[in-house]
Amino acid sequence: MKTLREYIKEADEKGAAIGHFNISNLEALHGIYNAAKKLNLPIIIGLSEGEEAFVGREEGVALIRAIRERDNYPIFLNADHHYSFESVKLAIDAGFDAVVIDVVKLSLEENIAVTKKCAEYARKISKKENRDILVEAELGFIGTSSKVLDKLPEGVSEATMTTPENAKYFVEQTGIDLLAPSIGNVHGMVKSGNPRLHPERVKAIREATGIPLVLHGGSGSMNEDFVACIKEGIDIVHINTEIRVAFTDALRKSLADNPEETTPYKYLPAAVAAVETVVEARLKLFNNLK
Ligand code: G3H
Ligand code: ZN
Repeated sequence: MKTLREYIKEADEKGAAIGHFNISNLEALHGIYNAAKKLNLPIIIGLSEGEEAFVGREEGVALIRAIRERDNYPIFLNADHHYSFESVKLAIDAGFDAVVIDVVKLSLEENIAVTKKCAEYARKISKKENRDILVEAELGFIGTSSKVLDKLPEGVSEATMTTPENAKYFVEQTGIDLLAPSIGNVHGMVKSGNPRLHPERVKAIREATGIPLVLHGGSGSMNEDFVACIKEGIDIVHINTEIRVAFTDALRKSLADNPEETTPYKYLPAAVAAVETVVEARLKLFNNLK
């Protein structure tokens, strides 16, 4: 099977992006995998620090590995938004395929120091264990919560977007494989509508850094903005809030419709199906499929 790095390159050459979807439970994983398999597309499953604590670090690795080995399917596991070298190290040691070190709250130089340490550790373990662990880092602020928001989070503005100059310097100093910039994207879905994305900024950052870019905060963005950003150099798109909302709404309805039902495998399939629907539509968009 090709490596995740190779699948990212392939997506880039095709003018497509790999879908990255977060999970908090097995049911969401089933919904996501059903959609990916139907379309025969590689997929990345994300576990943020909070999601990882709930699912279990080793359990998460075992779940993804079980699917990958049983079906010989390109499904990969990412340690999404990990906030320290120590938690990145634990994920790498447990067998994650990729990690996101998120220390944007630190100064640029401190961010560089922690990120570089993560990248060096990933290289060391990749070499030692014959793996190819990818390291991604964030630059520029895009908010923190994958939920429905009353308003744009404080601190998200044009002023906190990533500049091509900073991005180039950051990538050169850290040696990361993937960069998650701030280009108008925001974590979560803003009730009044998410801000527009800036494809021209994606283009400039991609040209300046020369490495694949990752679009975080995908939920709630406009279809045409996704398409334009993918064209300019986004190779992975993260979606979380849309999955959480679809899962929870379907589960609430299923329980309300069947108030006597106590068997999880009878009231949960509606939530699995709702996740599948969301993911299928997003994957089609990211991969130029009708
Ligand atoms: O890392 C996770 C994503 O960036 C999710 O963002 O909840 O806005 O889709 P989202
Ligand atoms: Zn994110």
